[in-house]
Amino acid sequence: MKIQRVRAMEILDSRGSPTVQCEVLLSTGVRATAQVPSGASTGRHEALELRDADPGRYAGKGVLLAVRQIDRLLGPAVVGMDALEQPAIDQRLVEQNGQPGRVDARTNDHAKLGANATLAVSCAVARSAAIGAGLPLWRYLAGDRKPIVPVPMVNIISGGLHAGRNIEFQDFLVIPRGYPDLASSLEAVTLVHRTVRALLKRRGCVLTGVADEGGWGPQLDSNEEATSVLRQAITESGAVMDIALDVAASHFSGAAAGIPSYRMEGRSLTSEGMADLLSGWIDRYGIASIEDPLAEDDWDGWKLITKQLGSRVKLVGDDLFVTNIERLNRGIREGVANSVLVKMNQIGTLTQTFAVVDRAREAGYGAVISARSGETEDPFLADLAVASGAGQIKIGSITRSERLAKYNRLLEIEKWEMGTGSGDSLFKNNR
Ligand code: PGA
Ligand code: ZN
Repeated sequence: MKIQRVRAMEILDSRGSPTVQCEVLLSTGVRATAQVPSGASTGRHEALELRDADPGRYAGKGVLLAVRQIDRLLGPAVVGMDALEQPAIDQRLVEQNGQPGRVDARTNDHAKLGANATLAVSCAVARSAAIGAGLPLWRYLAGDRKPIVPVPMVNIISGGLHAGRNIEFQDFLVIPRGYPDLASSLEAVTLVHRTVRALLKRRGCVLTGVADEGGWGPQLDSNEEATSVLRQAITESGAVMDIALDVAASHFSGAAAGIPSYRMEGRSLTSEGMADLLSGWIDRYGIASIEDPLAEDDWDGWKLITKQLGSRVKLVGDDLFVTNIERLNRGIREGVANSVLVKMNQIGTLTQTFAVVDRAREAGYGAVISARSGETEDPFLADLAVASGAGQIKIGSITRSERLAKYNRLLEIEKWEMGTGSGDSLFKNNR
């Protein structure tokens, strides 16, 4: 199945910002496209997202340069290659950065090309190969891994950069516990989402719409109030759920005399202060998972918080690890965190993404396959999550169709493609 043509175009994401779509045509006539997402609370160590910086178009956010990279460089570099050879394709893509060598995720430096360009090609090739092979995408991607319909971690209340900095913490999420399958757990999640709206209205909150990922973005007095409202909604709706937080602490952190500090709710906390604060919430609100409780370069703080809380909750590194195997390896070596958030566009190819999930599994770390705050209608992430066997996915909330494209694809995989019949899915609760 030779790659015959690769082309790209600029499309719009769920925030109305440009992003990249790539199309791959195989010699057999199979055609497939893929669209890449884009973050807002991006980590400093993420691979570059190439944007035009032309103030005359989309306030500098156009992606015509990335499109051109595909049309003129990346596409021609993989034309003639076998679409089934994903590792070789990804290696060739990375090599176009002028960094020859195996794709073993040793580098996140896609500085010349942009991870938005390489990822678009990587995903479109994989999809064309799956279609060509007559397999569902998840089945094709899985290889020897054991596919699992993942447990969702669902955003209900948003703060931080996704909701106009109303409160500092970025996501207040739920993880359904003990449901037999994804379908029934999503039904329960929608109840919690609606109950939160009712509770917020009762408190006099004005809700004019939903935040970037489909959760509510209310003006509340504190981060703890959001956590408490969420717990109350879970109880009132009769659902069985744990709470997860994405603190996204890099985005309200600073340093005073080289010591990391966290500015929230009109005060400044040390790393120890953050750990103590969160420690007090775990049992009070039933928290099972905390992402980025500290900043991306606060390794000492992370070590401390892992010692303090690591046996009680999942500690997930997003801005900390940026889907980069070198940073993950450092974390594993130094006893930092116990889970990794996995975002394909933080690193730029599928092979590097799978390498991180596989490394996490090998080291006994959890992995959560994650969307970005800027998304498209492409459901690729759902298939990736199932294929990886990671067991957990974070897509945002249960409103906004760029999110539902993924949830609905997961439902379809569970209902029709796993082939196990209702009530007998491979859905596994991770806890
Ligand atoms: P982002 O947010 O896509 O804006 O980075 C998602 C997250 O922080 O998990
Ligand atoms: Zn995050």
